[in-house]
Amino acid sequence: TRTPVNVTVTGAAGQIGYALLFRIASGHLLGADVPVNLRLLEIPQGLKAAEGVAMELDDCAFPLLRDITITDQAATAFDGANVALLVGARPRTAGMERGDLLAANGGIFGPQGKAINDNAADDIKVLVVGNPANTNALIAQRNAPDVPAERFTAMTRLDHNRAVAQLAKKAGVTVDEVKKVTIWGNHSATQYPDVFHAEIGGKNGFEAVGSDQAWLEDFFIPKVAKRGAEIIEVRGASSAASAANAAIDHVHTWVNGTAEGNWTSMGIVSDGSYGVPEGIISSFPVTTKDGKFEIVQGLEISDFSRAKIDASVAELVGERDEVAKLGLI
Ligand code: NAI
Repeated sequence: TRTPVNVTVTGAAGQIGYALLFRIASGHLLGADVPVNLRLLEIPQGLKAAEGVAMELDDCAFPLLRDITITDQAATAFDGANVALLVGARPRTAGMERGDLLAANGGIFGPQGKAINDNAADDIKVLVVGNPANTNALIAQRNAPDVPAERFTAMTRLDHNRAVAQLAKKAGVTVDEVKKVTIWGNHSATQYPDVFHAEIGGKNGFEAVGSDQAWLEDFFIPKVAKRGAEIIEVRGASSAASAANAAIDHVHTWVNGTAEGNWTSMGIVSDGSYGVPEGIISSFPVTTKDGKFEIVQGLEISDFSRAKIDASVAELVGERDEVAKLGLI
């Protein structure tokens, strides 16, 4: 039998945590033959609720779930961690400026990065879900100098999946016929969902949606970028289950690889590809294999796409400069 994989989840008592933990424990994160130990990190006020979630996890009698640790100590939570899902974050509250938000999250992701640096397993893979995800990931990464930078990633898979679903609807095909969609830039309203390199039902993505530039600009791009707000408005609560599903997809794809003829979107440390400044954590088209990923190279970027990518990247550079000024990186 295989040794269990240690999976750390922060914000374990939150909404996403509640939708995420049961799927990790049932084998959807890593595979149906991989046993897991769960390490749940919460703030002191969240510990009791996390205990309750752990009771329910027990009650599922998941064959793959070996052990559950609940703690408010980052060093304990990340001890020997192979996979870390950083979900808990400080939300923006009324009247909060961007600088306040970044500073509050720096107080979380800086120490967690250091705890990962000092305690995690050598093969640690980190996914940051908590917003602002890209810059939180950057803060964690810069506070973990002994961990290879590419192990820190930010989640744009929910945006990617939302784009796939919208394109399938528009083209009248099933979602598995939509391939090579890309989310570029920041997980924010400035993100750029790119259909120009997509393949839909075997055709070019843009042609498959009728080469309809107005639909693209006035419907599709804002639909994907503002979907989170739309869900809150309609459901009366945030998109926790689809976010948890995207986190599962992100790690599963990272570990198990992208399918031949397809790619995915991940927020990763830029190597300067496509003119994205080196070092920031920005979303790119990536293929994955054997637990490693590569940015898809050689895509032709139109002037329209260039302007969209540049705008989102400029926002990330602004966030990086702000956290640098605050001494967080
Ligand atoms: P939530 O408020 O229900 O849960 C957050 C949990 O994190 C709470 O239980 C809280 O006690 C805990 N927490 C706060 N600070 C912590 C710390 N320092 N260490 C450990 N735990 C801590 O929020 P929800 O709905 O689960 O969302 C979590 C985050 O995910 C939010 O930042 C949200 O904006 C983000 N998100 C990101 C998405 C993406 O696509 N990247 C999509 C949807 C949500």
